[in-house]
Parts: sequence; C-alpha cells; structure tokens
Amino acid sequence: MSETKKVVFSGIQPTGNIHLGNYLGAVKNWVAHQEEKVNYFCIVDLHSLTVPQDPENLRFQTRSMAAMLLACGLDPEKSTVFIQSHVKAHAEGCWMLNCITPLGWLHRMTQYKDKAAKQESVLTGLLDYPVLMAGDIIFYDADEVPVGEDQKQHVELARDIAQRFNSLYEEEFFVIPKPVIPEFGARVMGLDDPTAKMSKSSADKRGHAIRLLDDPKEIMRSFKRAVTDSDNEIAFSNDPEKAGVNNLLGIYKAVTGKSQEDVLADFANARGYGDLKVGVAEVVIEMLAPIQERYHNLMADTAELDRLMAIGAAQAQAVSQPKVDRMKEMMGLVMPG
Ligand code: AMP
Ligand code: TRP
Repeated sequence: MSETKKVVFSGIQPTGNIHLGNYLGAVKNWVAHQEEKVNYFCIVDLHSLTVPQDPENLRFQTRSMAAMLLACGLDPEKSTVFIQSHVKAHAEGCWMLNCITPLGWLHRMTQYKDKAAKQESVLTGLLDYPVLMAGDIIFYDADEVPVGEDQKQHVELARDIAQRFNSLYEEEFFVIPKPVIPEFGARVMGLDDPTAKMSKSSADKRGHAIRLLDDPKEIMRSFKRAVTDSDNEIAFSNDPEKAGVNNLLGIYKAVTGKSQEDVLADFANARGYGDLKVGVAEVVIEMLAPIQERYHNLMADTAELDRLMAIGAAQAQAVSQPKVDRMKEMMGLVMPG
C-alpha cells in the first residue's frame, strides 16, 4: 500500500555532462527501484545558479537532463520527475528555513569551503546551497536520500534543520531524512585515471568519461585508450596497480548484471587487455543505444517534454506547497484570505 512505501528524494544538477558513473551509480538504481518507493527526482536548476551560468546554456542543459532521465527509464507514471524552479515551494520554503538556520552551520560545510576557496568573489547562494537542498528533501517528507558520499554532510545538515524546526514549532512536523550511499561497488572510476572517480566536472576531458550521449565510435575510442597496467591478467582486484582493469570489469559487470565468475568466463579467451576493452565498449554501446534514441526523440518533441515536466511539477507542487504553507503559518505569517 502506498501509505507504507518509503519516500525517496534525489536531486541532480543539470550542469555538466551526465556520464556512465552517474548512470551505473545512481540513475540505473533509481529506475530499477521505482515501484518499491514513492520517488521524487528533481533537476536542481536553482542549485546550478549558485555559480555563474550562461542563461541559454543552463536552459538547454536543464531540458537535456530532463530528457535524459526519462530516456534512462524514469517513468512519470511511477516517479515524480520535475524541474526544481517549476515548483515555487522550494525557493519560498528555503527562505523560511534560512530564518531558523544558524550561519555557523553553513560555514562548516566542506563543499562550501572547497568551492569558496577557488573563487575570488563568493555568492550568497553558494553558502545557502545546503539550505535549499534541505528544503528539497524535507518538504516531501523524504525518508531516504540516495546521494554520493560527497553529499552526505548536506543530508546531515538537512536532518539538523528539520530537527531544529520540529523542536521550535512542532515535534514530528518534518520527517528526519537519512542519506543512502550506494556501496563501493557502484563507483565508476575515470578511464584516464582509474584511481579517481569519473566526474562531471572532468567529463569533457579527453578519455576521462563515457558521456551518455557519446556516439559509438567515441565510446570505443575512449575505452581503447583506458589506462590499464603492464601485465596481462584479467581479474577483479583491489590492488591499486590493477585499478584500471578492475574498473573495466566492474563496468562490464554493472552493465550486464552478471556475476564475477560469469564476467571472467566471458573474457577467458581474451588475448589481452585489447579484447577486454573492446568487449566492455560493446556492451556499453549496446546499453546506451536505446537510451540515446529515446533522448533524441524527446529533445525533438519539446511539447511532449514540456508536458511531462508539467505533470511532474504539478505532482511535486501538490505535496510541497501545503507543507510550506503550514510552515509559514506556524512561523507567524498571515495567510492570504
Ligand atoms: P554528481 O555527478 O556529483 O552530480 O552526482 C550525481 C549522482 O551520480 C550521485 O548520486 C553520485 O553518487 C553518482 N555518481 C557520480 N559520479 C559517480 C561515479 N563515478 N560512480 C558512481 N556514481 C557516481
Ligand atoms: N547537491 C546535490 C549534488 O550536487 C544535488 C541535490 C540538490 C540533491 N538537492 C538535492 C541531492 C536533494 C539529493 C537531495 O549532487
């Protein structure tokens, strides 16, 4: 029964190129578990504004990310997929949360410290980023927040903010969310440097990532260039020297869903790493072909994409706006008559 289903909320920034790591480590799992939970998947365009953006590019990337998530199999009938800025409760409720969040909590955020250190002039929105994110999560009474390790501190802050609101105004008003970090196995490493995670910020670096929209030739080329090692042993291993081969096998395993033994059996007759690379590239190309086709169809039919995003926004709004309205009332604002 839907009342007993856990509520899951996750967000993805539209900026940067979505890559194989995002797909195998996050999106594929969202798709696989859509039916078991009540899911909200949000394209967090307001978060992207916390660093300077080119307006046309941001607009394109936001629609592109929406099309990609649907192409990957998120089903608007089973999950609420929406664009953050379409649902006014996020920005509005963020203000309410700002007014109960001590500044010190934000100054402690390691992502803020890292990003701020790299910039000459830091925008207020960058500091406030985790409060906006807390609202994303708690306005939906989310129980679980699937995120990467780097976002754990932000989800913990969301818990603190929710608890603070509850103790100031009404116990149990907000559900206290918990981060759900995928196990280590789901981590895809860079093809150019298998000791570093494949990342959006490096996705345009030659040979680093497989971007979900890369064409088959480019995918083959990137895998063929993948860094391996100088011996010739195809085996799963934790040895840092063998990280490249391990990553290739891990990708093959995640894509095919096969056991380690079956993966190794598939490469038992390989003549070397060349065969391994081609074998991995082939399954990735085959997996991405239908996703790419659906993506291009959706991008060509903007009316359909807009329609699907509007459905998601309406569903999200119906849940989050009443929650934010109740907060406003509790905090002493006069509700319009
Ligand atoms: P990001 O690319 O940092 O916006 O992350 C979006 C989602 O993809 C998060 O849930 C991450 O945990 C996941 N993710 C990002 N990079 C990888 C990777 N290299 N391997 C596995 N999962 C990843
Ligand atoms: N900050 C997250 C990231 O960069 C994206 C995000 C925004 C998010 N709001 C969220 C993730 C709510 C989970 C839940 O990856």
